This record gives sequence, structure tokens and C-alpha cells, in this order.
Amino acid sequence: MNHSESLVLELSSHGLPRTIANRTRRVYDRLAEVYPLSARLFHARAHTCALEAAEVRDGMRVLEVATGSGELFRRVVRANPNGHSVGVDLSPNMARRTRRRIWREFPAASTLCQAVDARYMPFRDESFDVVFCCYLLELLAAEDIVRALGEIRRVLRPKGKMALVCIGQNVKHFNRIYKIAGGIAPAFWGRQVAHHVPALIEATEFRILKDCAIRQGFYPSRVLIAGRD
Ligand SMILES: C[S@@+](CC[C@H](N)C(=O)[O-])C[C@H]1O[C@@H](n2cnc3c(N)ncnc32)[C@H](O)[C@@H]1O
Repeated sequence: MNHSESLVLELSSHGLPRTIANRTRRVYDRLAEVYPLSARLFHARAHTCALEAAEVRDGMRVLEVATGSGELFRRVVRANPNGHSVGVDLSPNMARRTRRRIWREFPAASTLCQAVDARYMPFRDESFDVVFCCYLLELLAAEDIVRALGEIRRVLRPKGKMALVCIGQNVKHFNRIYKIAGGIAPAFWGRQVAHHVPALIEATEFRILKDCAIRQGFYPSRVLIAGRD
């Protein structure tokens, strides 16, 4: 058994034995109209940290995987008005909502928003300078985390950067509540994976450049910036 397989086995014993993508798609499709509030309340600070640390410069080709309702994506487009910004999400309603908002706010920018599964991305090898992925890995089974990270690596150019945000696992009370919520609605909450993600990132042949803990109220996040050699 190689290193990556043993990490997958270890994480598999922590819940979500398989990805329940159809249920996840349905849940997020239904929540697309109200999701912006939750993203603003809980994710905005981690988004700021990821955006700054990834050092997006105007003119780059940038991908965001699992955009949700597009709160980070619009900030990416604002930072990259003359580049090309692509956003994907499993939920067609989330992708549509993000697309409409971006067209309204940045009609002149070169953007694309589509419903795409992060495990199988329809992009050429080495076609992006930076890839963002926030709060997705919680919703994927261990082997699909490896698959999605492999896809991100494949579409990133050499020396490109991945900015990954996970739900933090450094607040005990929060962890207890999350475990209960994840047991009740696994398709929406998934389970926490932040402790396992650095080893999985390195097993996918990324180098971790930055690792920051962020709190927004009671909600913890872990922001990881990794470079592709
Ligand atoms: C917790 S939300 C996070 C949204 C956004 N990234 C943010 O930071 O607020 C998770 C998002 O991942 C999307 N998602 C779940 N599984 C996915 C997959 N296999 N491929 C792409 N997106 C996925 C969901 O539809 C949902 O919009």
C-alpha cells in the first residue's frame, strides 16, 4: 500500500465512506437563493485570506472549484478584470446564480461559470495560474478528495498555486456540533477533514507554502496555500 492509499484508508474511517454527489447537488440546488448569507457570515474572512495569499494578479487565468453562490468568485473577477476567470460548481442552480451575478456586475470581464463535478474537470492540462477551492473537501469521500486534488494539480500550470480552504478542526465545541450536524445532513455538512488535508495535499505532489487558522465568530477555517512544482 502506498502513502496516499494509507491516508485514504485512515480518513475513510472518519465518516462519509462514499461521495453522495446526487444528494449534495439536490441540497445545494435548493439552497442557492439563501446561501449567500451563510457564505458572508462564515466564510468571508477565510476568502480574504485565501485571495491575498494566492496573489492573484490582473491578467491571470484563474479557476474556482465549488463556487457556491459566487461570493469569492466575484472578488476573484474584481482582482482579475483583464484576465480569464472560470468558476464551477456541482449544483446547476449555484452555477447559474453565480453566472448571472458576474455578468451583471462585470459585463466586460472574460468569465465562465458552469455546472461541473470537481472530480472530472473538462479543462486542459496546465491551463490555470491559480485554483481556489473552498469548503468542498468536507463533502467528498477520501478517494474523491485525492481525485479532486489530482484534477486541480492537472489543470494548474507548473509553479501555479492552489488556495484551499477547509472547515477548521481546532475548536472543540464546534467539532462536537459539526459531528452531530454531519450525522443528520451528511450531503450538506459532510465531515471535517482539515487535520488530514495537509498530508493529502503533499501526497498529491503539492508543496504547502502557507497554513493559516482563521475565525469568523465561532466558525473556524483553515486556509492552505500550496504550490505545484
Ligand atoms: C459548503 S459550499 C461552499 C461554497 C463556496 N466555496 C464558499 O466558500 O462559500 C460547497 C459547495 O460545493 C459544491 N460541490 C459539492 N460537491 C461538489 C463536486 N463534486 N464538484 C463541484 N462542486 C461541488 C456544492 O454544490 C456547494 O456549492
